[in-house]
Amino acid sequence: MDRLDQIVAEATAAFSETGDPDALEQVKAIYLGRNGRITDLLKGLGKLPVDERKAAGAAVNRAKEAVESALQQRREALRRMALAARLAEEALDVSLPGRAQSRGGLHPVTRTLERIEALFRSIGFAVADGPEIEAEFQNFTALNTPEDHPARSMHDTFYLEDEAGRVAKGILLRTHTSPIQVRYMQAHVARYAGLETMPEIRVIAPGRVYRVDSDATHSPMFHQVEGLWIGESVSFADLKGVIGDFLRRFFESDDLQVRFRPSFFPFTEPSAEIDMAFTSGSLKGRWLEIAGCGMVHPNVLRHVGIDPERYIGFAFGMGPDRLTMLRYGVNDLRLFFDGDLRFLRQFV
Ligand code: PHE
Repeated sequence: MDRLDQIVAEATAAFSETGDPDALEQVKAIYLGRNGRITDLLKGLGKLPVDERKAAGAAVNRAKEAVESALQQRREALRRMALAARLAEEALDVSLPGRAQSRGGLHPVTRTLERIEALFRSIGFAVADGPEIEAEFQNFTALNTPEDHPARSMHDTFYLEDEAGRVAKGILLRTHTSPIQVRYMQAHVARYAGLETMPEIRVIAPGRVYRVDSDATHSPMFHQVEGLWIGESVSFADLKGVIGDFLRRFFESDDLQVRFRPSFFPFTEPSAEIDMAFTSGSLKGRWLEIAGCGMVHPNVLRHVGIDPERYIGFAFGMGPDRLTMLRYGVNDLRLFFDGDLRFLRQFV
């Protein structure tokens, strides 16, 4: 019997030394397999004398049960250890700080543009756009701007160069959004060519424009919003009404003055600069130029195939960057385009 106890003790010890389930099944075979030590003992029972057989059989069976139970316990223990290891590995450390998603915001000028679009849409204007790399025809010629006009000169305008570094004839960064007027009118005329009466044109066109210019109120890239209303009886009074209403709604205030100062643009006649000033608040009494405007010149209408004897209207080119400065009290235009997040975050 000592031998049986020893086998049980050995098996139990061997099981507890194995670290994984596969190794445990290998060790099991040594004792309980087809040629295992317990199995051999059971096989040997038949050779014992009959009177010893019963007691010996019972003893071997007890030993077998003891080994099986030790095996079962070890299997359980290994299963629990594996589970514990997995739980430890997959545990979430809820005390770790989260991965923050930084939130973006709209640029103050973008906010202004969206506001302008919404206000003009509400009075029946469409919103159009056009290319920033523009043809000289749309940017100047169709706008009644003669060859020798100073606006066309190199120190006002960014011309594109060809591969050899020569100024490519006829292609430039648009100096204003007025070429979109031309494109829009050309498309409008083509679209309604068959009609007895051309439907009215009522459109604004926001976008980036480029000039060789840089100081506190000028940047080589800035924004404009073009406006155009052409019909059979659109007058300068309508222009004043539209602009005045727009500004009061934009600034949500009646405390502002608007003045139309006579000016010159080749593509409008008469022409004016639009200045505005607040009548209260910290900016009270400071006039700022915010747009150029006028009645569309007959030559411009002729260039796009509209009969100037029948149709008439106004155009304006507004500076949304300036409107943004006024709305938020910013005194240097260049701050908008430096990309300094400390500045830009203030508007989010
Ligand atoms: N395009 C002009 C400018 O950039 C502004 C303007 C637009 C004037 C439309 C009259 C009519 O200065």
